[in-house]
Amino acid sequence: TRAGSARFLDRRAAPYPRPAESTIHSGTSSQGTDKNGGRERQIMGDIMDMAIYPGSFDPFTIGHYDVLLRAQKLFGKILVAVAADAAKRTVFAAPERVTMIREALRTVSGIEVVSFEGLLAAFMRTRGIRIAIRGIRTAADLAYEMEMASANRMLNTDMDTVFIGSEGRFAQISSTLVREIASHGGDISPFVPPAVVPFIAAKFPRSR
Ligand code: PNS
Repeated sequence: TRAGSARFLDRRAAPYPRPAESTIHSGTSSQGTDKNGGRERQIMGDIMDMAIYPGSFDPFTIGHYDVLLRAQKLFGKILVAVAADAAKRTVFAAPERVTMIREALRTVSGIEVVSFEGLLAAFMRTRGIRIAIRGIRTAADLAYEMEMASANRMLNTDMDTVFIGSEGRFAQISSTLVREIASHGGDISPFVPPAVVPFIAAKFPRSR
């Protein structure tokens, strides 16, 4: 619950972000006057489309959570897409990752969580979604992400990738780091939403 998250915040003083209080809904901008004969409205309608937030989320971290809530403020509705057959071998099976993200988003509305197989570009075309969100923590992230974004556009020219730069306090947090800490029995609770902790405890019995 939100109250649960708040208690967690007080106790740990962890940087766990709070859900957005308000969201911008698609079409909001079309209420203003439009001097361009509907064109401006059309453009804003396009920009305010639903966006997809793809990833491995192995596991879902507070860094992912922050990017997701910020993307929701920009696009209103977000589809979180868990890559089922990620190139990397994952610790959590796709259905586990979907469930942990849904649990972490219990108090947040306007976000749907699904898993997908195959190419993101193809999945987006099937769903009619044109904007992919990716979080960027470092320059190294950007180099890899630019490569992926341009490959994706070669596969699907209707799509664009929007990068959200992570806040400094989340820049060092990664799923890899969380798995590493958990595998050595460390406390991962400062790095993941409270709802994700039990999923990690179940997979790494020695972690707290
Ligand atoms: O959280 P990650 O591991 O950085 O996410 C990477 C992900 C899952 C978004 C990316 O590997 C992906 O889109 N996989 C699906 C297959 C695909 O479309 N690959 C990119 C083609 S260049």
